[in-house]
Amino acid sequence: MPSLENAMEDKPKNPARRTLFKAIGAATAAGVTGNILPGCVGKKGDTGKNLAFAEIPHSLDAQHHLPTGYHADILLRWGDPLFAGNTPFAPEKLTVTEQEKRFGYNNDFIAYMPLDADAGPGEGERHSKSNNSARGLLCVNHEYTQPHLMFSGYKDEVSAVRGVPAEHVAVEQAACGHTIVEVERTGNGWRPVLDSPYNRRITLHTAMAITGPAAGDRRLQTTTDPDGKRVFGTVGNCAGGKTPWGTVLIAEEGFGGAFQGNPDTIADPVEVANHRAFGIHPDNRNWGDYDRRFDIGVEPNEPNRFGWMVEYDPYDPASQPRKLTSLGRFEHEGFTLVSKPDRPIVAYGGDDDENQFVYRYVSRRQYQPDDYAHNRDLLSDGTLYAGRFNDDGSGRWLPLVFGRGPLTEANGFRNQADVLIDARRAARLVGATPMDRPEDIETNPVNDCTYVMLTRNTKRSGTNNANPRPRNPTGHVLEIVPPGRHGERNHAAGTFAWNIFLLGGNPNAEDPEERGAYGEQLPGIVSADGWFTCPDNVAFDARGGMWVATDGCEKFGFHNGLWAMPTDGDQRAIPKHFFGCPEGAELCGPEFTPDGKTLFVSVQHPADRSGSTFDNPLHRWPDNDPALPPRPSVLAIYRRDGKIVGS
Ligand code: FEO
Ligand code: CA
Ligand code: CA
Ligand code: CA
Repeated sequence: MPSLENAMEDKPKNPARRTLFKAIGAATAAGVTGNILPGCVGKKGDTGKNLAFAEIPHSLDAQHHLPTGYHADILLRWGDPLFAGNTPFAPEKLTVTEQEKRFGYNNDFIAYMPLDADAGPGEGERHSKSNNSARGLLCVNHEYTQPHLMFSGYKDEVSAVRGVPAEHVAVEQAACGHTIVEVERTGNGWRPVLDSPYNRRITLHTAMAITGPAAGDRRLQTTTDPDGKRVFGTVGNCAGGKTPWGTVLIAEEGFGGAFQGNPDTIADPVEVANHRAFGIHPDNRNWGDYDRRFDIGVEPNEPNRFGWMVEYDPYDPASQPRKLTSLGRFEHEGFTLVSKPDRPIVAYGGDDDENQFVYRYVSRRQYQPDDYAHNRDLLSDGTLYAGRFNDDGSGRWLPLVFGRGPLTEANGFRNQADVLIDARRAARLVGATPMDRPEDIETNPVNDCTYVMLTRNTKRSGTNNANPRPRNPTGHVLEIVPPGRHGERNHAAGTFAWNIFLLGGNPNAEDPEERGAYGEQLPGIVSADGWFTCPDNVAFDARGGMWVATDGCEKFGFHNGLWAMPTDGDQRAIPKHFFGCPEGAELCGPEFTPDGKTLFVSVQHPADRSGSTFDNPLHRWPDNDPALPPRPSVLAIYRRDGKIVGS
């Protein structure tokens, strides 16, 4: 087997061969070969035109970092008030009532939802057609809590998980979930609008409906909800998505950690395996001591009411969120939509766990841009599929439908509810491809191909060409090419082609499993600061430039952050470093305003490090105030000259 470097030396810099070469190079790097199809061909070169910023260096310190000419407003920090009259944040005085009126902890996904200047609350149909880039709603997930960094007195992370008193648990549960807050751009930058009628918190105590094929199933019934159609709260809210009809999707990812108890004590073997697979364990955090539904010995079905996608209307503060069982139950990273007039809605989602799957949903009915009422149920009535990535570069979407293939009573499925509740087991049975932790998946609006962030996987047993590294500590990005020419791609088709778009890691690393592969694979083409590891969230700018946020670079000596790259043209898959996090943080939720002039990012868990606590933190970003701990924060980034970000 030739080395990657030798293989590269022979190759001409020929755009027509570039993608094939890269894919083979990637496979060779990992010691496998495959006949991989050409990459996504859009409008060549278009996606690179607005990435002219001055790259920042890899570094690791207590600051955030931006290119010259850019500014970041610290827009929202944990504990910031959403309403006037709230006193300044004082963590030692934080009560449940206070936390419910303040920005939550560990911000993740961000949706910017424009506000129509002439419409008010409850008028989502009008707001959803707005492109207002100076006033909108920021809809932000709060993934999880870290009591040792939120409260004084904990000596480490472990004591803060098992030994938390009732009053801290109650604050934690109010700090999870989601925030909706109006924001506006002023002459002095961005600011939250206190007391806006849209401002609202969704927490673990917010009532929500369970909808879709699994609603009411006996596996969703509990003592407090014998109908299995109503649940309190959402947790593990990682990434999400937006719909063109003005609703927001929020994912339930690591929900298992909220539950305590021993799955082996449950009589039903199906539930034993189910609860074990999601990490429910007697040593998990002790919320169940006080909020008894989080103890599976008390409510064995409560975990089945989590692990879904949640949809809600940010424009209607009186509306109730709903859990969409149609999109399956697993550790959802998010679901993002492809919406084309008179075509079904297609949504792509990942299950962020080792050796789990990529999913796609296709609505039964078609999207009608002018029929708001019709569109609102498109995500409740359709078919969920799991992806098979064949070694020859082709792929197939495998339907998860009760009665089809192996999804029958003989394999323990009673009905479609079982298929959706146990979507992982169903996907494995139909032959989906186990992946290297699928995180965010988004479709490039310019070339209409879909990109899958595979963050890393050090628990792989056996490779395939779509996941070519036996041990993958640095992650990679896959490109899904739906059939059809550019402009006519059919995301609802049963088949697709795929490529490895890039392999995370240092292009000069000796270990092939840590050796990155970008763009044309030519030595030196990626700068010393352009390489990254562990892709997590992704966003596309209006010109198709791809912006990747990372979670895992610190193991390789530098901060997490944001890297931007074209998806076609001469610079395809060659990243440039745009933003760096303060030490300990991962970056989430890149989100542009419609005019591309503001980029919102989520800095999650700053100063998160073994031994770092509220009383003795690694640092105190962003306030650097001895009275305050480090605070997860959302930043609004823009150019000082007001031009488009990245251009
Ligand atoms: Fe919450 Fe998949 O990162
Ligand atoms: Ca994530
Ligand atoms: Ca995204
Ligand atoms: Ca992650």
